[in-house]
Amino acid sequence: MSETKNLPPAHVAIIMDGNGRWAKAHHLPRSAGHREGAKAVRRVIEATPSLGIKYVTLYAFSTENWTRPQEEIDTLMDLLDKTIDEYQKSADKQNLRLWVSGAREPLPAHLLNKIDELVADTAKNTGLTVNLALNYGARQEILHAVNACLAEGKKSITQQDISAHLYQPNLPDPELLIRTSGEERLSNFLLWQAAYSEFYFTPVLWPDFDEKELKKAVLAYQHRARRFGGI
Ligand code: FPP
Repeated sequence: MSETKNLPPAHVAIIMDGNGRWAKAHHLPRSAGHREGAKAVRRVIEATPSLGIKYVTLYAFSTENWTRPQEEIDTLMDLLDKTIDEYQKSADKQNLRLWVSGAREPLPAHLLNKIDELVADTAKNTGLTVNLALNYGARQEILHAVNACLAEGKKSITQQDISAHLYQPNLPDPELLIRTSGEERLSNFLLWQAAYSEFYFTPVLWPDFDEKELKKAVLAYQHRARRFGGI
């Protein structure tokens, strides 16, 4: 095997999967799985800066998640609300910046207001950027970018044009994309940005994911040979 080791990834994107299965395995309601999932989010946010990671994108709620039972949607929105409140208190101490990727409609107005406030309040922080993929769908994001280009009167569109009109145009593409719970698909996540990402799949359920698991994923990434189509 080659001795060359990649630098740690600057941007790690995570599909946080398996909350429901974790709850089932513990004979608990699905809401308990999501609550444990929120704890794993905090663990990962605390662990990332020491690993050299500058950006983390978390798939918190997809455009397809609206098809879940209303009770579960309410649990997830409530957890997000509480988590935003917590970070309103601690983000500056952690030097953490919040960005969001996704469509605003039909997210509840009170949640959008809180999120807008935290995004504005943390805009000057220089540590880890947490990009929350909320009401996010990658196909919708690409369409949004194309339509924005058309609205500017462009007759033909380049790759740079698309990249410049994504939800977060200043976010570098993720070098590493992690999905937990043994599922091995992209599920409408970062279709444009993940063109050259290294994928890391682990059977660990999201509520059990921690610093040790994140280090394993980063180490696996560092030993991958990245050729970007070359030899
Ligand atoms: C997948 O588990 C997870 C989600 C649908 C949402 C992720 C949400 C959290 C981690 C909690 C709150 C998030 C934040 C940012 C505070 P699943 O329900 O699909 O699990 P299953 O496939 O085992 O049923």
